Amino acid sequence: MDAIRITGGVPLSGEIVIGGAKNAALPLMAATLLTDKSLTLINMPELMDITTMSNLLRQHGARIDQSALAPDARSGVAGSGVAGSGVAGAGEAGTTGRSMTLTTECITNVTAPYDLVRRMRASVLVLGPLLARRGEAKVSLPGGCAIGTRPVDMHLKALESLGAKIQLKEGYIHATAPGGLKGANVVFPKVTVGGTENLLMAAALAAGDTILENAAREPEIGNLAECLNAMGAKITGIGSGTLRIRGVQALHGARVAVMPDRIETGTYAIASAITRGRITLKGTRFDLLESVFSAMRQAGVSIEPVPGGVVVAAENGLAGVDVMTEPYPGFPTDMQAQWMALMATADGASMITETIFENRFMHVPELTRFGADVNVHGASAIIRGRKKLSGAPVMATDLRASSSLILAGLAAEGETLVNRIYHLDRGYERLEEKLGGCGARIERIIGA
Ligand code: UD1
Repeated sequence: MDAIRITGGVPLSGEIVIGGAKNAALPLMAATLLTDKSLTLINMPELMDITTMSNLLRQHGARIDQSALAPDARSGVAGSGVAGSGVAGAGEAGTTGRSMTLTTECITNVTAPYDLVRRMRASVLVLGPLLARRGEAKVSLPGGCAIGTRPVDMHLKALESLGAKIQLKEGYIHATAPGGLKGANVVFPKVTVGGTENLLMAAALAAGDTILENAAREPEIGNLAECLNAMGAKITGIGSGTLRIRGVQALHGARVAVMPDRIETGTYAIASAITRGRITLKGTRFDLLESVFSAMRQAGVSIEPVPGGVVVAAENGLAGVDVMTEPYPGFPTDMQAQWMALMATADGASMITETIFENRFMHVPELTRFGADVNVHGASAIIRGRKKLSGAPVMATDLRASSSLILAGLAAEGETLVNRIYHLDRGYERLEEKLGGCGARIERIIGA
């Protein structure tokens, strides 16, 4: 298994280009199952989770072509079907410009097997589209997960409201809708990102009108809804907690930009702050991460939006700031572990309260190996900042926990070895290269 070795204590300085958002790209890819025409996605990140989703979609019958767009071909696609949606960041100078065209002329297999679903919970996003287009789906239950039980009960209840018949047998969700799905009023008891995405896709091809109340408002939902509209869907209320979908009989192809990854943006913003450096983040947007940037400013970090990006700079003397994770526009749970690493280096104490996932403090015992002073009480953690962290061998437990260990390693004096980094490869592309370009002493050790 690969590991990452870091020799910390270097203030980072330079530019990092932010890639397309993993959590936007995955549902956008699943939308191929809704149409027999081609869907082209630009600004696609290169990540393990994208490969896993490609493999899943291929075995449902999708054909997937990938290419790198020539720089001059990019300018024409940024507004494609998503103008005004806040996703036009792709196609601007500085983005990677990789594209992917997905075509599912017919769905050849309605089963999403355990072996693929267990690798990535977002695989459950094929459920809504398969059911809407084929009237049938058999999707493995995602099962346990490092950050809590993460059930899919809200996805299933909402699909039942649209007329689906659902049974759980032998670890699989068997869903059918022989007469097709029918629009309905759905009130989510709790905000669910994946549930909202599954329902948006299912309702796009249902007969009649669907209203999703207490829908997730994450920008990735907006990216998906704008994409579906570009494919001919009729969705209004985008960006609000109430989405209205008028079902249509068929969807067509489209060409859509994947929004910048706000969690990658936040992680590198913290890399700059935790090393007391200065990094320009390019190809991203300030407004995607206002809650995190505002907490960083409170801590004393300078955050300056500039055309096409954000400049993040910090000096010693950061203050401890309390945060509580919440659905968007609140502080994202996917930035909680990274925030803890930063607070471990601030002057004074701070408290983090995790309200989205149970058991999402798996990084705490690993962070304490750097000398961080963290005490967990139920859903809250108290962090007492230290003048210095010191490098240590540590073990990654999940995707965002892994990035907090990289951040602590960048700040710590001496050598850090982060093991089990396959978690990182699921969500951060060319991490060593991007950080190394800003002066970090970081290397991948193959087969450590
Ligand atoms: C998505 C993101 C993930 C992020 C999370 C919360 C993707 C691919 N993943 O995950 O990175 O951490 O949003 O912002 O976009 N829940 C239920 N029943 C359900 C569905 C969810 O109880 O049917 C619970 C979950 O266990 C969790 C909470 O609701 O406690 C929120 O989960 P949800 O928003 O659905 O997260 P994901 O879509 O899985």
